[in-house]
Amino acid sequence: MTRKFYITTPIYYVNARPHIGHAYTTIACDTIARRQRLLGADTFFLTGTDEHGQKIERAAQAAGKTPQQYADQISAEFRNLWKRMGISNDDFIRTTEERHKKRVQVLFQGIRDNGFIYKGTYTGQYCVSDELYVDGAQPGDPCPTCGRPTETVEEENYFFKLSSFRDQLLALYANPDFIRPETRRNEVISFVRSGLRDLSISRSTFTWGIPVPDDPKHVIYVWLDALANYITAIGYGSTHPGAQEAFKKYWPADVHMIGKEIVRFHCVYWPAFLLAAGLPVPKAIVAHGWLLFEENKMSKSRGNIVRAETILDVLGADALRYFLLREVVFGQDGSFSFDALVQRYNSDLANGLGNLASRTLTMINRYFKGEVPYPSHAVSKSAADDVIAETARTTIREFGTLFDQFQFSRALEMAWGLIAAVDKYIVENEPWTLGEKQDDESRARLATVLYTSAEALRIATALAHPVIPDATAKIWAQMGLGDIKKLALADLAWGQLPLGTKLGEVHPVFPRADKSAIQRMQQMEEQQRSPVVEEPKVVSQAPAVEAVAKAAPVAAGADATVDGAKISIDDFAKIELRVGVVKVAERVPKSDKLLRLEVDIGTEVRQVVAGIAEAYAPETLVGRKVVIVANLAPRKLRGLESNGMIVAASLEDGKPVLAGFLEDVPIGARLK
Ligand code: MSP
Repeated sequence: MTRKFYITTPIYYVNARPHIGHAYTTIACDTIARRQRLLGADTFFLTGTDEHGQKIERAAQAAGKTPQQYADQISAEFRNLWKRMGISNDDFIRTTEERHKKRVQVLFQGIRDNGFIYKGTYTGQYCVSDELYVDGAQPGDPCPTCGRPTETVEEENYFFKLSSFRDQLLALYANPDFIRPETRRNEVISFVRSGLRDLSISRSTFTWGIPVPDDPKHVIYVWLDALANYITAIGYGSTHPGAQEAFKKYWPADVHMIGKEIVRFHCVYWPAFLLAAGLPVPKAIVAHGWLLFEENKMSKSRGNIVRAETILDVLGADALRYFLLREVVFGQDGSFSFDALVQRYNSDLANGLGNLASRTLTMINRYFKGEVPYPSHAVSKSAADDVIAETARTTIREFGTLFDQFQFSRALEMAWGLIAAVDKYIVENEPWTLGEKQDDESRARLATVLYTSAEALRIATALAHPVIPDATAKIWAQMGLGDIKKLALADLAWGQLPLGTKLGEVHPVFPRADKSAIQRMQQMEEQQRSPVVEEPKVVSQAPAVEAVAKAAPVAAGADATVDGAKISIDDFAKIELRVGVVKVAERVPKSDKLLRLEVDIGTEVRQVVAGIAEAYAPETLVGRKVVIVANLAPRKLRGLESNGMIVAASLEDGKPVLAGFLEDVPIGARLK
């Protein structure tokens, strides 16, 4: 019987657009799912979006949308991004779908029928951002997880008897594979050992959620609603026989992959809910660390996110996938930077795998008319050939072991060790010199060297396929091996490259990236890094445009064409627009809108007072290149002299978005 494998990502909140932190989890799961498919498992890979709760309700309100409209928009962004990245999920669940809502109610009812839900009054602190009840906190205390202020809630709620599950949970944790890595497991064990309080599992002060069966004044606690996606998506609670069959087949999950900040929900609440409902618990919960950018956890509230789209545009999805899995030690926090990304891309992909593929295949084309040559078993065999074969065998074995223990970076390091060994082997055996000679011995030796290189390339390509699916599929086809999806990874062994295989057309798969790629990506991100785009905040309804216009120093695009009058080129030439770089940025005291900037325009440093404080945090501006109207008469704002004006687009809601450049431009350059 075929083995099944079921893997899930967390379902992502729809209060913020996707960034590479989300992509990291999704890529890790995608890679595992792809490997499992190649190993022959009947694989189901689930992702989706978490759309209910007060946090989403408030974000929607701030954006002037209904929660459903808001959720539709952001959920689509996640779905489209995964599609663009070639993520191979088998389903995408949204918690606002009917199938989910009905089945969550079935789960709630099941837990209630089993006697684990009762009604009581909750008085205490709640963190809306984490959708978390904070035990023991006093009014005004910050949330221990995110540091934001907690809110006092006092409501009649349904409670879940979490306290009854202490011993059963501890028994689950006795299995060292249940929570990984070990550090997370230890944290959870000590949390549960210290005692569990019953958990409030409904809210009645807002309505954006799934109604409690028979008591629709209450909505089900968003974490119970969200966690249930792992079973509702595969058919739990459905009356449809096909869905019931799928649930029977795939549940329990083999891996719930999560970030470390949601360990408690997954390792304590979720198994307790399942036990209470009489359902099997997942086999493993695997927590990875955070992706840091500029030293902090990448998150929309810090405004330090990097979007995946930028990297896809410049280097492609494989580059991002490889970088994240190779560079970050899985389980620990890891830093992202564009420099490191491009460096890895060039060293490991362009110069490593890409170069090995193109040099090996080009030589087979040149010296053997594009057909994989026969290695010689007699005269031309050398010990170095056997070393490569042995290295490849060890790599196959150890790559699998490391990968299946979620040690992606070490697994990739092994595979790239094989690539480096073959590179060295090629250099030492100089096939290009052998190729110049016509004697039989040289021809036989050349055949052996190129066969050995091609076979090692095939093995590295097969192992790397789940991580960099696009490029490896191309290399596979160039090697004349057809569709890589048909590869039976479990049987991968040295010596399977069919002799005489006719190569396909050979093209480089990873063109080298130059330094401008870094700047391009940085600038693309800087242009996006406005809180207006990333985080719809509760903003005053006062027309921002007017506020900004009164504050003066931002040029609104519309102003240039007041009543449609045309100006001559000479008129335009009177305006001196120059590139400057922000050296200092700080808030103007007692003003919500104004920032004081010191801008270097090449010949001097200008003080400019700009009405952009609502759209840009001062620290995000330092080092940023801006366009400045350099010959504007000085004026005073809040007692400060402003010498010039920063150019920005004015969005419909009046918020400014600073003008910038995709290419690098020197400071002081004139715009004409
Ligand atoms: N909706 C909940 C999860 C419910 S699962 C039943 C949630 N959503 S979230 O949008 O905040 O996404 C959290 C997940 O996104 C993290 O657990 C992690 O997998 C991923 N990441 C988001 N930012 C991240 C980083 N900066 N670094 C690494 N992963 C990050 O929590």
